Amino acid sequence: MNTEIICVVGARPNFMKIAPIMAAFAKHGVRAKLVHTGQHYDPAMSDSFFEQLGIPRPDVNLEVGSATHAVQTAEIMRAFEPVLDVEQPVALLVVGDVNSTIACALVAAKKGVKVIHVEAGLRSYDRAMPEEINRVLTDQISDLLFTTERAAQANLEREGVAAERVHFAGNVMIDTLRAHLARAVPASETLAGVPTRGYAVVTLHRPSNVDDEATFRSLLETLNQVAEKLDVVFPIHPRTKATAERFGMADMLARPGMRLLPPQGYLEMLGLTRDATVVLTDSGGLQEETTALGVPCITLRDNTERPITIAEGTNTLTGPNREKILQCLTDILANGGKRGRIPEFWDGQAADRIALALRAWLDAL
Ligand code: UD1
Repeated sequence: MNTEIICVVGARPNFMKIAPIMAAFAKHGVRAKLVHTGQHYDPAMSDSFFEQLGIPRPDVNLEVGSATHAVQTAEIMRAFEPVLDVEQPVALLVVGDVNSTIACALVAAKKGVKVIHVEAGLRSYDRAMPEEINRVLTDQISDLLFTTERAAQANLEREGVAAERVHFAGNVMIDTLRAHLARAVPASETLAGVPTRGYAVVTLHRPSNVDDEATFRSLLETLNQVAEKLDVVFPIHPRTKATAERFGMADMLARPGMRLLPPQGYLEMLGLTRDATVVLTDSGGLQEETTALGVPCITLRDNTERPITIAEGTNTLTGPNREKILQCLTDILANGGKRGRIPEFWDGQAADRIALALRAWLDAL
């Protein structure tokens, strides 16, 4: 039987999105194959997610690795085209907003292979973010778009995407969170005991925060101040670690109360997040995961493409502004922070809705 859909993953945030989709495709009889571009390749950034989330081994690994945006995107395109030639699928499914997403979508669209985008329509309206460019362009060349929140539909409408192409499916990343929450590794295990004063989980890797020396230094100084109140548990992204070393700021990561960890597995990170007093992050995924878990989140960005985490969830935007971050933390320590509620369709069933819609769409082609 021929392959109906080629699914693509490349970077860490893709893995938790594709896991429930592959499972739902198997359940609903959608014939799919999985391609890994190799954008992320460290075992801790990739393999561990396949093992913990039960994602099938990729049928193909393009092994492109790291490079500048242009070279990485070009290498993915060059390596991906022959895969489409061999497999001749009906459609390509991409998730999220990483370079692998736009690179493969562009190859498929030019070859007349239909493109399906999961997590479509999110907009930060900040074109300085590489992911924003990836989102806008991927949506423009997609035939079928699945959204995680209703604001995304309005964004797509404004950009001229026909409403009948857009389906509100809910959040597949939250499917994964719900499916694995009971197996999350307790923070007490990962940290060998939870600090008595509680702890903050920190993640930081956006170019806008770590590539500019003054911004990065100010953020680390702020985190050192946070560490006077709470332990700062910081699973550090390889690019952030490398940049701190390059700027001669490694000592700031080793100050009292700072607990540096290597990149964590999904189940370890889920446990750390669930049990945290607060999360400080510039990640898109963690803004949503903290909302789903009811844990206060301070987002170290000036904007978010996920406004529902502000309107309904536990998220607050501070940007890299020290006063705002510390004020927000003080409020959270005093009164527990925003309570929030679970957004519509963040119910663990999003991938099923996508698979059912796709089965019907494929049958009607
Ligand atoms: C990518 C995504 C970003 C996502 C993030 C999650 C794009 C534009 N960005 O950013 O949206 O939030 O993944 O992690 O696609 N590196 C390693 N090992 C790896 C992978 C990367 O050491 O397995 C290092 C390399 O030095 C590399 C750097 O991290 O140059 C950046 O990797 P890259 O994939 O280019 O972007 P991310 O910052 O990870």
